[in-house]
Order: sequence, then structure tokens, then C-alpha cells
Amino acid sequence: MRIIKDIKEMQMFSDKTRKQGKIIAFVPTMGFLHDGHKSLLKEGRKYDCLVMSIFVNPTQFGPNEDYNSYPRDMERDLRIAEEEKVDIVFNPEVKDMYPDGFKTYVEVKDLSKNLCGLSRPSHFQGVAAIVAKLFNIVKPNIAIFGQKDFQQMSIIKKMARDLNFDIDIIGMPIVREKDGLAMSSRNTYLNTKERDASLCIYRAITKAKNMFNKGARDTDEILKEVRKVIELEAASKIDYIKICDIETLEDIKIIKNKALLAIAVFIGKTRLIDNCVLSDMITPITKKTNYTDSDKEIGFKSV
Ligand code: PAJ
Repeated sequence: MRIIKDIKEMQMFSDKTRKQGKIIAFVPTMGFLHDGHKSLLKEGRKYDCLVMSIFVNPTQFGPNEDYNSYPRDMERDLRIAEEEKVDIVFNPEVKDMYPDGFKTYVEVKDLSKNLCGLSRPSHFQGVAAIVAKLFNIVKPNIAIFGQKDFQQMSIIKKMARDLNFDIDIIGMPIVREKDGLAMSSRNTYLNTKERDASLCIYRAITKAKNMFNKGARDTDEILKEVRKVIELEAASKIDYIKICDIETLEDIKIIKNKALLAIAVFIGKTRLIDNCVLSDMITPITKKTNYTDSDKEIGFKSV
């Protein structure tokens, strides 16, 4: 495994690798790796060359957000990267990615407005800018993102299409702890009490799925019950709970075939996000593995 910090060196490596006819798969991360990241790396390992970036991107954090306290542990991350047989870890410096005078952001209109865009207004322009930069530096054929950040994944897919990035964007299912909490680097902020409290999110998702499976299609009716589940937990404060169109991410009143339930909740000071696809389509499952219910709905696997 090679660690590259220099932008030009990364570009030269990728040029050479592509000239050899090899397919480059790319997993962008902010580090503090967990099993969610690992599932993306395992998917990426199926291709000739696997590049992972580790870069805590300052431009996607708001002024009062957790950029400084975001968990970092490079030694541990590099160990995991070795275990997952990553070929290249790209770990640039902030000063090189954002030299003085940096002025260019990428705005993906509409998709960035709802959900996390409501409480984090400049978040997605920072995400889209860094991912566009990373695409131009790593030059992958394939880039792999997690459905845990469903809105982010939708925005990146749209950006890649609109700006003609010649890159296939692959989405992978949410990996959860055994008790249902979606894995996240930010889970490390939770103390024991908050960790227990965080389970209200999965309970809420389960409630929505059960209602949907029993035929509920009116989103107000589902959301009312889902809110109740979260509000029962004293340590929780809802940022948003919404049911949206899976393509446009706009709120919908009635679910036709498929919709996205998206949740953002503060547990103490920690903001956690989660989601699930409510779908009445039965998707064939091709691989034997440890599926969760929500994975089955969209035909995805969990590790
Ligand atoms: P980060 O939060 O480190 O996530 C890196 C990738 O891992 C994202 O695609 C995210 O959706 C995925 N991921 C995180 N938790 C997951 C889980 N429980 N199951 C499956 N996938 C999961 O997302 C970012 O970094 C940044 O915004 C980035 C894209 C790197 C741009 O800075």
C-alpha cells in the first residue's frame, strides 16, 4: 500500500494506471473508518486498483459545526486500509487542496435544498466541490458512495452526469450495528446513555416500514407516528423527519411505489442521520449474505 499526499503525484499515478488499461475504483472518506467504509472498500477491491482518500474537508462544515473535533486516527485508518488491501491512500493537506484564493464551489440545485440542506445550507456545495476535485485528482473509473448519506449520493450522481465526469457512481447499502444504529464516525461522540437513546432512530425507521408494509401510503399519517417514536426519547431533538420522492428528494404527500424516509436527529449535541427506502417492489437478491430488511427492499447487501 502506498500513501500519497501530493496532488500531482496522485494524478501521475492515476494516468499511468489508466494507461495500463486498469480500472481505478475510488472510495472518498473523511477517515475514522468503520464497517460502513469497509463495505465500500470491499466493493472497490473487486476492481484492478483501489484508491481511498482520507481528507476531513473543511468546506463542508458550517461555522458552528464539528470540523475541529471531527474524530481523526490516521494510524488506525492506515491499518484498516492495509487489511482491506487498498492500493493507494490519498491523504492531501488542507493547504494544498484549498490554497489561498480558492473560490470555486459546485452547486447542485434543487437536490441540495431539502433535508440536510435546510439546516446545513452550505454543506453540499462543499461536498460537491471536494468530490469534483478528488475526481479530477484520482481520475477513477468508478466511485463508491454509501446510501447512509442518501442525499449526498444523489447529489454526486447528478453532478457527475451534469458535469460529464466519465465515472460510474456506485451506491452501497447502509451498514448498521447489531442493534440497528447506522454506523457513523460521529457515533464516537455518544456517551453510554446517548448511545442507548440513539436507538430511537432505528425504532422509528422500523415503525415506518411496518406501517408501509401494512398499506399506509399517506406520509402525514406515517410521519406522525414516526415523530412520536423519536419524541418518546427524552435525549432526542428532531432536526427533520421527511418522506420524499426518491429521485427529486422533494416532500411527497402520498407514496406511490417508492419513497425515501430521511431522518436527522440530535442526540444530545450529536447530529445523527439515517434513512430507508420504503418500497413495494420486490427486488431479487443474488448473493447470500447478511441482509437487513431495508436492504431487501432495494436489493442491496449489508456486511
Ligand atoms: P464519510 O462520512 O467518511 O463517508 C465516506 C463514505 O462512507 C460515504 O460515501 C458515506 O456515505 C459512506 N458511509 C458512511 N457510513 C456508512 C454506513 N453506515 N454504511 C454505508 N456507507 C457508509 O461522506 C463523507 O465522508 C464525505 O462527505 C466525503 C464524500 C468523503 C466528501 O468529503
